[in-house]
Amino acid sequence: MTRVAIVTGGTRGIGEATSIALRDAGYAVAASYVGNVDRARAFAERTGIAVFQWDVADYDACQAAAAEIAATLGPIDMLVNNAGITRDSSVLKMSRDHWSDVIDTNVGGCFNMVKAVLPGMRTHGWGRIVNIGSINGQAGQFGQVNYSAAKSALHGFTKALAQETARYGITVNTIAPGYIATDMVAAVPEEQLAKIVAKIPVGRLGEAHEIARMVAFLCAEDSGFITGSTISINGGQHMY
Ligand code: CAA
Repeated sequence: MTRVAIVTGGTRGIGEATSIALRDAGYAVAASYVGNVDRARAFAERTGIAVFQWDVADYDACQAAAAEIAATLGPIDMLVNNAGITRDSSVLKMSRDHWSDVIDTNVGGCFNMVKAVLPGMRTHGWGRIVNIGSINGQAGQFGQVNYSAAKSALHGFTKALAQETARYGITVNTIAPGYIATDMVAAVPEEQLAKIVAKIPVGRLGEAHEIARMVAFLCAEDSGFITGSTISINGGQHMY
C-alpha cells in the first residue's frame, strides 16, 4: 500500500521541496498551508499534491485535519513538522504575542501534530517523524530569542519522543537547516543577510531541495535505525 505523508507548511520553501521529494519517492502527500491560498492552489495545480488548510497552532484543527487526510488518502505513515514562522526583533522590543506566536506554532505545532498522528502510527507499528529545526536553535541568533528557543526545544522534543516511540517502529529525527534560499530568509534585511552569508564556508545560501533529500532519506523504509538524531545541513556555518 502507498505510504502517506503529511508535510506541514508543505506548499512553500523547504516544505514545498519536501512535499515534491516525498511524492517523487512514491508516497501520497498531503501538504498543509495556513494563509497563502493563492500559492497553495498554484502548488497543487503544478504538482498534483493534495493541499489542506489548517493552523498547526490549533490543537483541534490538527486532529480534524489528520482525520480528514486519513479518510482521503489512507492511514498516515509519515509526518514532517516543517511549518514555522519568524517574528524577529531584539528581546527588548519583542511583544508577548510575538513570543507566543512563534512558540505556539514552531514547537506547539509539532506537539499538536504528533498527538494527531501518533495513535495511528502506533496501531500500524510503523512511522517516520521528521522535525525541521534550525541552525538558530543550535547556535542562537540576534533578534530571534523566540525562534531560537522554539527550534532549540525541538531537540529535546525529538530525543524524548524517539525514546517513547522506538518500540512501535516509529523513528523521530530533527534536521537543522542553515540559511536556505526561501521567502523566510529573503525577509532578513539585506545588509544582515550579506553578513550571514559571508560566514557560510560553502559561500552561498542552501537550496530547499538540499534539505528535502535528507527528509526523504530519513523517511525511507531502510532508515529505521536512525532515531533521536539531529542532522545539520548548513554549508559548514555551524559545526555542531
Ligand atoms: N549582532 C550584533 N548586533 C546586531 C546584530 C547582530 N547579529 N544584528 C543587528 N545588530 C545591531 C544593529 O546593527 C543595530 O545596531 P545600532 O543600534 O547600533 O544601529 C541594533 O543591533 C538593532 O537593535 P534593535 O534593538 O533595534 O534590533 P531590532 O529589534 O530592530 O531587530 C533585527 C533587528 C530584527 C534583529 C534585524 O537585525 C534582523 O532581522 N536580523 C537578522 C535576524 C535573522 O537572522 N533572522 C533569521 C531569519 S531566517 C530563519 O529564521 C530561518 C532559519 O532557520 C535560519
